[in-house]
Amino acid sequence: MFAALANPWIASQRPYQPGRPLEEVARELGLADIDGIVKLASNENNLGPSPKAMEAMKKAIPSMHLYPDGGSFYLRQAIAKTFGIGDDMVMLGCGSNEHIVLLAHAFMEAGDDLVCSEKTFVVYKLVSALYRCRCIEAPMQGMTTDLEAMLAAITPKTKLVVVANPNNPTGTMVDQAAVDRFVEQVPDHVVTVFDEAYMELLDPETAVDTVKHAKAGKKPVITLRTFSKAYGLAGLRVGYAMAQPDAIDLLNKVRQPFNVTAMAQAAALAALDDEDYLIRSRKMLRDGRAQLMDGLRRLGLDPVESVTNFILFPFEKAGELTAALTKRKVIVRPMAGFGLPRHIRVSVGLESENAQFLEALKKALAELPA
Ligand SMILES: Cc1ncc(COP(=O)(O)O)c(C=O)c1O
Repeated sequence: MFAALANPWIASQRPYQPGRPLEEVARELGLADIDGIVKLASNENNLGPSPKAMEAMKKAIPSMHLYPDGGSFYLRQAIAKTFGIGDDMVMLGCGSNEHIVLLAHAFMEAGDDLVCSEKTFVVYKLVSALYRCRCIEAPMQGMTTDLEAMLAAITPKTKLVVVANPNNPTGTMVDQAAVDRFVEQVPDHVVTVFDEAYMELLDPETAVDTVKHAKAGKKPVITLRTFSKAYGLAGLRVGYAMAQPDAIDLLNKVRQPFNVTAMAQAAALAALDDEDYLIRSRKMLRDGRAQLMDGLRRLGLDPVESVTNFILFPFEKAGELTAALTKRKVIVRPMAGFGLPRHIRVSVGLESENAQFLEALKKALAELPA
């Protein structure tokens, strides 16, 4: 009844397919609880939240009858200090996902173009459709973003060019020199967005700095970061944008007044201060990624070399293999929704979780008909 009444471009929209929650799989397997099920499907940080963040959340409980600080004052200040920018250059959101929607809301209208890479975070495409815009997907160099191709894809109608760096789902990245050259060359009618959801997981020497472009203010550049990955707070939904104050003013106009909960603000503030947790997270990632790469190769698979906390590998019957792993209590992500129907993405987990995945994979591969 409602589909006929809805905006046609909404009615035809395919909803985002997230990684399957542990509880859903427990129900499917007829289990009373989630014990023994491993989720390696959403690039989360399986260390769990930082102890400092958990403490801060406990302290925040008695104030939960109050609305949050709509401007996230203390968190904004702490982020600004971390990056050496003014607090008027930071805006918090309900995950960096919200920023992607807000950017479209602020900068795009029907008929405009958004340029991104092929084989990238599917939300750019979904949001383009939401705003009746065309999403132009530039070809990649193998599994790596091709910034030259992205430049070539820009049209007079392009309003946003979005670079996921490191890229999801391929796990590859483009380096500082390439990014700097790209920023210089993007025409001035286009806002350049760097979606850096995984950047803090990299060792600082290899991380790319795009905030320097926002600081310089010569080009319209916006950097997105999140507390969902390195900081282990995906369930709280906190992300942030960094840009020149006039861009932040625009984003503030299109967001909801209380888009970041008080609990999320308290936890993120504490997590930002937990350097020890960040170092442990990076170590878990380095060790776990090596464990998974080695294990996948030993099983005859050909994983894509990744700089971050997930690994993409090709497999002809990706859907069947995902189902076979689910039966063995391991949740991974089939990549059909990302335009890669013959690939699976597995997140790096704790050592024991990676081992459980590799063991389940070995058995599933042996049982799958060729
Ligand atoms: C490239 C990229 N950008 C943004 C996000 C969204 O993160 P958040 O949890 O901050 O909304 C993700 C999540 O997987 C991602 O992979």
